[in-house]
Amino acid sequence: MRFYLGVVLSISCALTHAVGAEWNPRELNTLRSLSLTALTPVPVSPSNRVADNPQAAEFGKKIFFDPRFSKNGKFSCASCHQPDKYFTDQRPVGIGINKTSRNTPTVVASAWSRWFYWDGRRDSLWSQALTPFEAADEMGSSRTHVIWEISQDKHYLRRYEQLFGSLPRELMSKPKQLHASPIGDAQARENWHRIPNKKKNIINTVFANIGKAVAAYERTLVPKVTRFDRYVEQVLGIRDHQIRLSKDEVLGIKLFIDSEQTQCLQCHNGALLTNGGFHNVGSGNFYGKTLDFGRSLGIQAVLIDEFNCLGNYSDAKKEDCAQLRFLDPSQHHVPMDGAFKTPSLRNLGMTAPYFHDGRFSNLLDVLRYYNEPPVDNGPHELKALDFSDGQINSMIAFLKMLDSDE
Ligand code: HEC
Ligand code: HEC
Repeated sequence: MRFYLGVVLSISCALTHAVGAEWNPRELNTLRSLSLTALTPVPVSPSNRVADNPQAAEFGKKIFFDPRFSKNGKFSCASCHQPDKYFTDQRPVGIGINKTSRNTPTVVASAWSRWFYWDGRRDSLWSQALTPFEAADEMGSSRTHVIWEISQDKHYLRRYEQLFGSLPRELMSKPKQLHASPIGDAQARENWHRIPNKKKNIINTVFANIGKAVAAYERTLVPKVTRFDRYVEQVLGIRDHQIRLSKDEVLGIKLFIDSEQTQCLQCHNGALLTNGGFHNVGSGNFYGKTLDFGRSLGIQAVLIDEFNCLGNYSDAKKEDCAQLRFLDPSQHHVPMDGAFKTPSLRNLGMTAPYFHDGRFSNLLDVLRYYNEPPVDNGPHELKALDFSDGQINSMIAFLKMLDSDE
């Protein structure tokens, strides 16, 4: 009898622990807000009429993995966004035809972003997808070359035409200027200059459609469940996963969500642990060879991008483009010189190195940075954390809970 009583008592103790007796209602609310339970459905993309078309996603996936669209036939999107590395390359900066100047972010969950790139110089997944084809350091190709490849492969051509109608015949014969683009290398720009405006418009329409298919694929890449998500389900009583947190994990969560001790939540919030905004954490590169002013230049670039939400190739109505229309480069209370898009904190275990230039190879170095942010690199938004080594370890234990099992 006594034996049974003991078993019952210890089970009930385990349960009280498991249902999260250590969290007050406010903390529980915050935990929920950070978990996949709180993730909204993939946001709509009015500027892309095939955003949710499964055939477009299938077509876009083929393009994503196909190196024929690069200048030398060697690089596809997946060369840098590798599926087995959570769609990153685990290098400090991306390397294609040449070394780029920034770290390769994941494309998982990018459908929830409002702005793309570390500096937000694109405002949709499809307009983003057009850029790497022509970026000299990435795929070094051009819109005319990309269209040519589509037109020459009968499977691609069929898929394209099923989705977007016939590919204009004038683009089917080998163009005089196979390598032409307004933003490519010098040769591409010169060739582009020679194409009549009407034809440029046709080329851009087809190119935009190709980007829209790639975006449809990227929208299917959604974040997977993590230990943290399962734990939150457990404390909310949704499902018992029999998870018992270590002391470090509990302390790490407490530190992360305690706005008096840390400011993490101010920028890393919501189910993706990012507010999607641009913040200055003192990491701008203002000197030397690798200048990077981040958001201040990104704003200028997105406003003049011909493929933005308000441009000729967008499927959106003007009213659907509020975020672009009300973008005001002068309206910021934090310095946008040196501000970057807040990255998600999901699957950090797969996405090292960290920061826009991949300067930190591990989480310990990132936390040491937050512990003592720079005092001599322009104004920024951080306060020194002043954590002990133990507190830093706890924070890392929490961040590791955000790694998915696969
Ligand atoms: C040479 C490596 C490389 C290739 C090839 C490449 N990317 Fe990227 N990608 C990067 C880097 C580096 C960045 C960040 C650049 C920046 O912020 O300026 C990036 C950024 C992105 C982003 C923005 C993510 C975010 O959260 O803002 C998306 C989406 C993306 N790439 C998709 C693609 C697609 C689609 C292709 C193929 C058409 C592609 N990439 C080809 C390296 C690459
Ligand atoms: C003021 C906004 C802000 C605050 C506060 C903040 N972060 Fe960040 N965080 C950012 C930005 C912006 C970056 C990217 C910086 C860069 O690329 O140069 C970043 C990057 C990171 C990274 C690297 C992720 C990656 O993929 O590169 C980690 C980890 C991180 N933050 C954790 C934290 C933790 C933990 C806290 C609290 C101690 C915190 N952050 C507080 C905005 C913030």
